Amino acid sequence: MAKILVLHGPNLNLLGQREPEIYGNVSLDDVNQNLTRLAKEHNIEIVCFQSNSEGEIIDFLHKEGIEADCVILNPAAYTHYSIAIRDAVKGIKTPVIEVHLSNIYAREEFRRHSVIAPVVWGQISGFGHYGYEMAFWAALQLIKNINR
Ligand code: DQA
Repeated sequence: MAKILVLHGPNLNLLGQREPEIYGNVSLDDVNQNLTRLAKEHNIEIVCFQSNSEGEIIDFLHKEGIEADCVILNPAAYTHYSIAIRDAVKGIKTPVIEVHLSNIYAREEFRRHSVIAPVVWGQISGFGHYGYEMAFWAALQLIKNINR
């Protein structure tokens, strides 16, 4: 059975309450439940994980990421400066899809650069919680092509 990991970075546990005008009203539980439902419908194993700690995100990528078929990752604030997460993404061979709820290119200057983007398969930014679903569809295509 194919496996997708969904990895949420710092402060995304507050999704739905945190700056709803930017990140929307949908909670992280709702995002994960929607992805879990989609995964079930397509016979795909899914593991969702959130951490506020850089080290835990890296450990998760090392331990779980290596065995997965695709990782959907919102590195949150780490997007803009974590060379360590970038190295972890590069270090595993699993394709990673970077997701941002907001359009990071239309925000403050410091958010307009992702150090992660050059080492991921693709990036989805600006479609709110629907971005995770878009990433799921992209992952599904990738998995189908791998197993063809
Ligand atoms: C974010 C954008 C980041 O700049 C920010 O630090 C986040 C969320 C997004 O999903 O839009 O925490 O990754």
